[in-house]
Amino acid sequence: MESVSDVSFLSYLLIRITTNSSTTYVVFTILLPTLAIFLFQASSKNRARLPPGPKPAPIIGNLQQVLQARKKSPHPSEWLLKLASYGEMTTLKMGAQTWILLNSNRVVNEIIGKRAAITSERPHMPVSQGLVSQNKRSVLRQTKDWTAGRKLMQRMLSGGALREYGDLQDEMSIAMLQNYLDEPKSWYRHHYRYAYNIIHKVVVGKRSQHTQHELDEFQRVTMEFVKNINASIIDFFPWLSRLPSIFQPGYTQWKSMGNDHYNVIKSWWEPVKKDLAEKDPAPSFVSDILMRDSKFSADEDEAMYLSTSIVAAGSDNVRMTLNVFIMAMLDNPKVFAKARSDLDVVCGSNAERLPTLQDMESLPYILAIIKEGLRWRPTVPVIPQHRLTKDLDFEGYHFPANTDFIINGWAVGSECDEPEKFIPERWMNAHVHNIVNGVWQFGGGRRVCVGYALAKQELFLAYSRLIYCFDWVAVSVPLLPLSLFMSSERVSFAN
Ligand code: HEM
Repeated sequence: MESVSDVSFLSYLLIRITTNSSTTYVVFTILLPTLAIFLFQASSKNRARLPPGPKPAPIIGNLQQVLQARKKSPHPSEWLLKLASYGEMTTLKMGAQTWILLNSNRVVNEIIGKRAAITSERPHMPVSQGLVSQNKRSVLRQTKDWTAGRKLMQRMLSGGALREYGDLQDEMSIAMLQNYLDEPKSWYRHHYRYAYNIIHKVVVGKRSQHTQHELDEFQRVTMEFVKNINASIIDFFPWLSRLPSIFQPGYTQWKSMGNDHYNVIKSWWEPVKKDLAEKDPAPSFVSDILMRDSKFSADEDEAMYLSTSIVAAGSDNVRMTLNVFIMAMLDNPKVFAKARSDLDVVCGSNAERLPTLQDMESLPYILAIIKEGLRWRPTVPVIPQHRLTKDLDFEGYHFPANTDFIINGWAVGSECDEPEKFIPERWMNAHVHNIVNGVWQFGGGRRVCVGYALAKQELFLAYSRLIYCFDWVAVSVPLLPLSLFMSSERVSFAN
């Protein structure tokens, strides 16, 4: 499907104006709101004192520049690093929204960490959250609709419950090793199955019986959703969603994408529902928490979207992180050798036993590899908007309510010596066991990834066992033009 972001907003409106509508309608529905935004932007400049950024165009602001940079750059690091050259924070006018990119660990900690009480809202996104997600995917929900589901997810993914999943992760990681042995060339597929099978069992209580095609479909829908966050002009001018659908750019495509996602998610849910109707459904998030919690009075679609939100986030992010790990190890044989020698000390140099979760304390270098991987090639380069709910004065700046803060994963990860090098030693300190200390890849504040502790266990088992059990050889060298990813030369923004 062609991305709606490619459509020039102004020319789109002009075409609609000249071909479809009466003058009165156009004046009231399009020109007046556009003028109002322009005047509001002009007047709010007086109220707001914002960090520097590229020069915005009238009305659309930096939208066109950012979308073009995104299109031109083969990798997000290019434009994200370029934007970080404005300082610790960069202001972007994205249509009717004001984005503040947070480019340093310090300001992320100050704004997302310490001021979480007022920086944890999500903006209203009529396309990514509305049309594409039927307003039900947890990660983009606004607080009033999000809190109940979040509490249930937290209950499932913390404390004693989390410890219980260790056995499951142990078993699934052995299955992954077996898959590596059987089909080494499909190694990346095994990562998805590993992560997916774990979270599927946790959420549904049963092993996944999905065919490869069904898994591919589920993954496609997840990736399509993620790719299209902030891709529609309507999400940057949310008032456009109040117009009749014929005036909404890309409406038909977004709507049909949402319907397609709904159908894939529904076909995932049908067998789960059937199991629930049985006398003794297997214990799981769905049967124990979701369907029996009196405070969660939501309908079936709500339950379905909440369950699949967890499965989608829990499988795709882990898969991508594991893929980067493989790339990092092949590119850094000395790191691999050091990790192997640590494992030999703990588990025996003659394959005496597999590393387990109980070895985590004795194997800090493996945890340092996890943290370094997340820094070096961020799994989530742009953390979704954290919206400010009250005016905020911060270090001489004045941010009005409704400003959006975005963690710039590449900039934050580049704040160290020789950022392009993979050096786990930089994490070998008193906080190495805390996977979110110094790493913002799981987001932060009240929206912090609900599955980060589960992810830590999952990544530890996979990394340590893959390093301990296999000698690795890259079939094609060089693996990727690695240097490309750290360059920002191709991109420029107007000053
Ligand atoms: C390396 C692996 C992972 C990374 C990098 C990651 C990253 C993220 C990020 C950046 C967010 C948004 C945070 C924010 O807005 O501040 C998020 C949310 C979320 N993550 Fe993860 N995640 C990972 C693993 C997992 C796992 C294993 C699970 C499942 C158990 C999971 C479940 C979720 C869910 C359900 C949300 C939405 C939470 C909500 O709506 O409140 N994630 N994750």
